[in-house]
Amino acid sequence: MIVQEGIFQYSSVNHSLVCYARRDIRHQLAHAALDQDSVHKAPAVFIIAAVYERTAKKYGNRAERYVKIEAGHAAQNLLLQSTALGLGAVPIGAFHDEKVKQVMNLPVSQEPLYLIPVGRKR
Ligand SMILES: Cc1cc2nc3c(=O)[nH]c(=O)nc-3n(C[C@H](O)[C@H](O)[C@H](O)COP(=O)(O)O)c2cc1C
Repeated sequence: MIVQEGIFQYSSVNHSLVCYARRDIRHQLAHAALDQDSVHKAPAVFIIAAVYERTAKKYGNRAERYVKIEAGHAAQNLLLQSTALGLGAVPIGAFHDEKVKQVMNLPVSQEPLYLIPVGRKR
């Protein structure tokens, strides 16, 4: 599957990517992440964002903990799959939350937790 330049959200309902914008925001995203090289250069950057309220409906005050545990699982799977494909992936936790939200145009309910640039190893 060839993915065009843009911002996409994964939809678990039908296992598809929904396109929100057709533009390259990597450099703006990298600025929000302390200008880290991997975010500037990777052909794809995965962003894991949390919607705590959704989980709180079922798990109450355990929601924040569960969401962060789950984000770790998802990130680990991404890293394992990248390795299996012979690609490089970098977990990035150092970024300005508000700037990432702004660049991504994320709704207020979504909190970015993790950036994971993926690309070919040098
Ligand atoms: C939660 C988490 C956040 C991280 N955030 C950053 C980051 O923002 N910048 C960075 O250079 N490394 C960050 N690291 C570390 C690297 O992504 C990576 O784990 C480290 O460079 C060792 O990678 P290697 O074992 O493949 O050499 C983070 C690691 C973790 C687990």
